[in-house]
Amino acid sequence: MFQHICNGDKDFCNLFDGKWVEASSGKYLTILSPVDGLLVGRVPAMSREDVDRAIQNTKESQPVWAATPIHERASVFYKAADLLEEHADEIAAVLTMEIAKDRRSAWFEVKRTADFLRYTADAGKSMAGEAISGDNFPGGSKNKISYVSRVPLGTVLAISPFNYPINLSASKIAPALIGGNAVLLKPASQGAISALYLADILQEAGLPKGVLNTITGKGSEIGDYIVTHPGVNFINFTGSTAVGKHIAKEAGMVPLMLELGGKDAAIVLSDADLEFAAQTIISGAYAYAGQRCTAVKRILATGAVADRLISKLLSGIAKLKVGDPREDATIVPLINEKAADFVMELIGDAKQKGAKILTGGKREGNLIQPTLVDNVTTDMRLAWEEPFGPVLPILRVRDEQEAINIANRSEYGLQSSVFTKNIHDAFYIANRLEVGTVQINNKTERGPDHFPFLGVKASGMGTQGVKYAIEAMTRPKAIVFNLQDNGTVHHEGPIRGEE
Ligand code: NAP
Ligand code: G3H
Repeated sequence: MFQHICNGDKDFCNLFDGKWVEASSGKYLTILSPVDGLLVGRVPAMSREDVDRAIQNTKESQPVWAATPIHERASVFYKAADLLEEHADEIAAVLTMEIAKDRRSAWFEVKRTADFLRYTADAGKSMAGEAISGDNFPGGSKNKISYVSRVPLGTVLAISPFNYPINLSASKIAPALIGGNAVLLKPASQGAISALYLADILQEAGLPKGVLNTITGKGSEIGDYIVTHPGVNFINFTGSTAVGKHIAKEAGMVPLMLELGGKDAAIVLSDADLEFAAQTIISGAYAYAGQRCTAVKRILATGAVADRLISKLLSGIAKLKVGDPREDATIVPLINEKAADFVMELIGDAKQKGAKILTGGKREGNLIQPTLVDNVTTDMRLAWEEPFGPVLPILRVRDEQEAINIANRSEYGLQSSVFTKNIHDAFYIANRLEVGTVQINNKTERGPDHFPFLGVKASGMGTQGVKYAIEAMTRPKAIVFNLQDNGTVHHEGPIRGEE
């Protein structure tokens, strides 16, 4: 097991045509742990030639895979799910050191991925086409029938972010593969080692060679080359809005799914259960030190509500464990120095413009104390920018309408929460929020993974969620039967074999 560890115990290889290979240049990227700064391992820095070979290989393998019955494709996922669960502790330990995710969340990411693989296999087996009669449309006839099935697109390029290297790789790979596509996975460099474990497991579970290949290397160096490669038929990207927008410009006419950044608002109304709202918002804002696209990234409440909420938030924040993800801290070191610099910059800007730091605001290396900032106003960067760190701003609003206006002024539109006991108010606000999903009385979050998950505006395009992702990475193919009145097929040209 684990053949991707291919050169000593710290050098990892890429999956190519069923084999584990180094970069043709022999070069590696060094992956250091955000936890202790020590070496986690090295992954190959693949070259453009390696990319060409990997994509060409998917082209050769995909038709056979597409011709494989879906129930046989599905069997690979059931086996892979079992293997993931069998090795969950081991893989979670790798995640913990590579991306500083606390042990419990890392283990849950692996378990969630196993569930995702099984559900995708089931959904794939339930995929059905349709037959449409011509007479449904004015002037049409019952003698015209469109038989519509779904066919794969070809090679899907999956690009995943650092914060869910296993789950957000699988949520692209599995729906693409069950739909009959081949996949080239380009994981985030910090997270690549974890993602290669997933590839290894899929390979071990019986995926035919060349149906899934992996390419590691810096996005800034090989990214443009991959996304503009003529062999790519669909790009499924999760990551920052900046890189997503860049890919959209580069990619030309290749269809895209983009899951990008967010600035999810929690709108808290005066009748909400404030104890519950505070606890839920804390877990939404600070889990994995706020490094989730769906983290609660601002609170919108009237002054009276904010005053009552703050003491509850502060007592909850004081209980958060800060430090080492191996000891299940919630507030863990951020992924790198640059990320921590950025969060501190946003806090500094808010402070300098008159916001009040209620707790936190301090940093030790990449570790930033959980920070709650009151009196954040719309001239401050913290009101609008995504920190991807453990800082939560409170914007005091006049009323519900101002909360809706400020929520919608954001360039992002991933999710929002509304906390209230009044279902009418909840729906009034939910209907007016320009986001993919509104959570009523819950934190913003992606799962369960069969729900549609999408962002609008700068938060993305296209919809994840098992069924939606399979549909996005397949297309309808229509074959139209034109029958004659006596029931025989109308055919004006020579019949095959009689030419
Ligand atoms: P990122 O810096 O945008 O990187 C995402 C992926 O893109 C990585 O694999 C990266 O590779 C690659 N990449 C970088 N430049 C590229 C280029 N020119 N062409 C092609 N690929 C390129 O994002 P991140 O820091 O990993 O993740 C954090 C961001 O992702 C946050 O903004 C967060 O909100 C967002 N996110 C959104 C969702 C969602 O579902 N909406 C989920 C998770 C995260 P390298 O690592 O080698 O640079
Ligand atoms: O980081 C973005 C992920 O899609 C968030 O997923 O809400 O399950 O943490 P999550």
